[in-house]
Amino acid sequence: MSFPIERPRRLRRTQRLRDLVRETIVTPNDLVQPMFVVPGSGIKKEISSLKGQFHFSVDMAVEEAKDIAANGVPAIILFGIPSYRDATGSSAWDENGEVQQAVTAIKKAVPELLVITDVCLCEYTDHGHCGMIHEQQVNNDPTLELLARTAVSHAKAGADIVAPSDMMDGRVGAIRSALDANNFTDIPILSYAVKYASAYYGPFREAAGSAPQFGDRSGYQMDPANVLEAIREAELDIDEGADMLMVKPGMVYLDVLSKVKETFGRVTAVYHVSGEYAMIEAAAEKGWIDRKRLILETLLAFKRAGADFILTYHAKEAAGWLK
Ligand code: PBG
Ligand code: ZN
Repeated sequence: MSFPIERPRRLRRTQRLRDLVRETIVTPNDLVQPMFVVPGSGIKKEISSLKGQFHFSVDMAVEEAKDIAANGVPAIILFGIPSYRDATGSSAWDENGEVQQAVTAIKKAVPELLVITDVCLCEYTDHGHCGMIHEQQVNNDPTLELLARTAVSHAKAGADIVAPSDMMDGRVGAIRSALDANNFTDIPILSYAVKYASAYYGPFREAAGSAPQFGDRSGYQMDPANVLEAIREAELDIDEGADMLMVKPGMVYLDVLSKVKETFGRVTAVYHVSGEYAMIEAAAEKGWIDRKRLILETLLAFKRAGADFILTYHAKEAAGWLK
C-alpha cells in the first residue's frame, strides 16, 4: 500500500487522533530528581553552574523532598558535599555524613519517596578522583572495598537503592557481596554501567566540588567513541548482580541507550546530565527556544529510545506539568 491509498497525515489531523495513536508517553513516574546535600542547617542556595538547582542542608532537603513527592516524582538521587576531604574519601562512609543524615531524615518525613544514593568517592577525596590513587592512577581493587563500605553505610541510613557511579571494574559484585553480608539482600543496585568520560559533567563537578585535581577520568570512564564496549560493560554488571543499568549522559548517547535496552531487555535508566540541563537553560534564558516544549521533547526521546526512567534536574518541574 502506498500513496494515495496510504496517507500518514490522516492520523495526525487532530489532537484526539494524535493522542490515540501515540507510541510513547512520559509520566511523573518515569522521573528521578537529583539533589545536592551540604553541611549546615537552613541552607538553600542556588548552584551557580546549575540555575534552578540548589545546595540543601539536611533540614532544607527534607522540605524539598516533600515538595518533590507532592509533584508526583517517585524518587530522588542524593549527592553529598562533605565537610572534609582526604586521600581515601573517608567522609563517604561516615555514618554522620550529609548523605547518610539526609537519607534518614527524608525517609522519616516522606517514607513513600524512594531515596537513591550515588555511590562514588570523587566528592569526598581531596584529589577529586573516584577512587584511591597509586602513582597518579586510580587503583581499582583497593577502591572496591571503600565503595562497598560507602554503599553499606547508605543502606544502613535507610537508602532504598544504591547507585555506584565510579566505573571501577568489579564494583557491582563487591557492593552486592557487602550488602548481602550486612543483611541488605533486598536493596537493589542501580549501576551506572555505561558511563562515558564526558564534557557534559562540567556543571555537576562545579556543584559538587568534584573536579579531578590532576589528569582526567579517561582511565576509568568510557571512551565516547565506543558502543561495543558499552554492551560489554552492561553484561559484566548484570553478571555481577546489577538490578538496573544506567546509560550516561543521555542526549548524545541515545544510540547506546537503545542498544543496551534491546540487547539485554533489563531495566535501563538514563541520566540527563548537568551539561545537558545547562544547555537547555542557557538557550531558554536567551529566548532562543521554547523551554517547556524542549524539556518535554527531550524526556520523550529518552523514553522512546528505551529508558525505563530518567534521572533529570527537570524532574520536579516536569512532573508538575505532567501530573
Ligand atoms: C560522580 C558523578 C558524576 C555525575 C554523577 N555522579 C560526575 C563525574 O563523573 O565526574 C555527573 C552528573 C551530572 O553531570 O549531572 N562520579
Ligand atoms: Zn566519581
